[in-house]
Amino acid sequence: DLPSRVRIHEVGPRDGLQNEKAQVPTEVKAEFIRRLADAGLTTIEATSFVHPKWVPQLADAEELFPLVSDLPVALPVLVPNTRGLDRALALGATRVAVFASATESFAKANLNRTVDEALAMFDPVVARAKADGVHVRGYLSMCFGDPWEGPVPVHQVVRVCKALLDMGCDELSLGDTIGVATPGHVAELLTALNADHIPTTALGVHFHDTYGQALANTLAALQHGVTTVDASAGGLGGCPYAKSATGNLATEDLVWMLHGLGIDTGVDLGRLTATSVWMAGHLGRPSPSRTVRALSHK
Ligand code: HMG
Ligand code: MG
Repeated sequence: DLPSRVRIHEVGPRDGLQNEKAQVPTEVKAEFIRRLADAGLTTIEATSFVHPKWVPQLADAEELFPLVSDLPVALPVLVPNTRGLDRALALGATRVAVFASATESFAKANLNRTVDEALAMFDPVVARAKADGVHVRGYLSMCFGDPWEGPVPVHQVVRVCKALLDMGCDELSLGDTIGVATPGHVAELLTALNADHIPTTALGVHFHDTYGQALANTLAALQHGVTTVDASAGGLGGCPYAKSATGNLATEDLVWMLHGLGIDTGVDLGRLTATSVWMAGHLGRPSPSRTVRALSHK
């Protein structure tokens, strides 16, 4: 059975823009977020309060967040540690996300920590956020394959998922950071998580479209009861600390499939496509999304 409604967690302004070589002006980022909200997206990951040297593309978080914080949408932000949480709370953020890894190689590359050291770094972040009534998402990267380690054993993923939920995360997002998963693999992981009593209602999926599998993987996840799907407008994105990570599943491609299946998203596909075309103009190259290309072809 498929759900009647899916909540799209839009990550374009964060996962998309964190990987851009060119520096996007803060005002353009703010306009991007406003247009996404206007297109009907209700959860828009705005930016990251990480170390500015690690992700210079998002070093303007302090300037950007106040420009959009009055929008009537949820604006989660990434925070790796208590320093990041302090910065986010000082601006009134009410939703944050920590980001763990299922593999040691990526934990080291992305957070300069082992998997367990990273979890220890998140523990006080989640505790304080929860005490302040702040919603916490827990990302888990490299759930399927890792560029250094190859296929990732399911038990490694289950262990870190449990740790994040035990810590107090309200929801998890299962990341296929380098886009290598296929639908059978997705079904296998979700079945294992269910068997370990991790509720599907707490799970979202985060697919990158490197091998063109993101939509097929999303359908497999929906068939397993998942109703939160991450996507990036126009298919922007990648991760600067994961070699061969390309863009996320394009929000337009996702919306095309969901609406075709009769699943409600609240998104106006025309407005969204126009936003991605506008953003592509700023970035100087066309969107890789097939749906954006099809709908904007004249
Ligand atoms: P570190 O170098 O180990 O930092 O980096 P540290 O804890 O040793 O601190 C060193 C200095 O950095 C200190 O300053 C801190 O104050 C400062 P000093 O005392 O030396 O002057 N510092 C900060 N400054 C501002 N904001 C902060 C902050 N933290 C420390 N938050 C650290 C550790 C976690 C900070 C670093 O590795 C980092 O920022 N990593 C973030 C990497 C990142 O953002 N990656 C992309 C997001 S993850 C992703 O894209 C995957 C996802 O999409 C899902 C998927 O696809 O799988 C979510
Ligand atoms: Mg990602």
